[in-house]
Amino acid sequence: MNATRQQLQKDVMSIGEDIVLSERFEKAWRVPHHHKKGTIAQHSLDTAGYALRISRWLSRRGVSVNERETVRASLLHDIGMTEDEVFLSPSRIKAYTHPQEGSRIAREEFGVSELQADAILRHMWPIGHIPPHSIEGWVLVAADKCCSIHEIHRAFAPWARR
Ligand SMILES: [Fe+2]
Ligand SMILES: [Fe+2]
Repeated sequence: MNATRQQLQKDVMSIGEDIVLSERFEKAWRVPHHHKKGTIAQHSLDTAGYALRISRWLSRRGVSVNERETVRASLLHDIGMTEDEVFLSPSRIKAYTHPQEGSRIAREEFGVSELQADAILRHMWPIGHIPPHSIEGWVLVAADKCCSIHEIHRAFAPWARR
């Protein structure tokens, strides 16, 4: 792991340690993601790292982003996948149901803010059809896409750097 990624992960932990150490997140380490090449937990941690990077990039350009809201929403954005009935459903259904389930779990089990619950609910845009309301929600959309592209490339492109 390079120094930048290590620092980002440290910063993510300082904001969302309670989430990462929760039983629910523990379950996410056992839920595969992207054709069984990774887990929901690793994807969520990496998405939070990307979100922090994008937030800081925007902040340096005068766009104010609340890092705490963005990182916590990122850590929980796919937590809906840890519900068996969501995970076991076909991909085309799962794409629509996991944001709703995730938003509910985030509220009920982690007491997240309205902004975080809403960002989780809307993170699948444009597949999910409902665009984010907040800059933090847009950062999550971008971070999730960046992270997914990186994961798919790493998993399926034999020439990719590991
Ligand atoms: Fe998702
Ligand atoms: Fe995701």
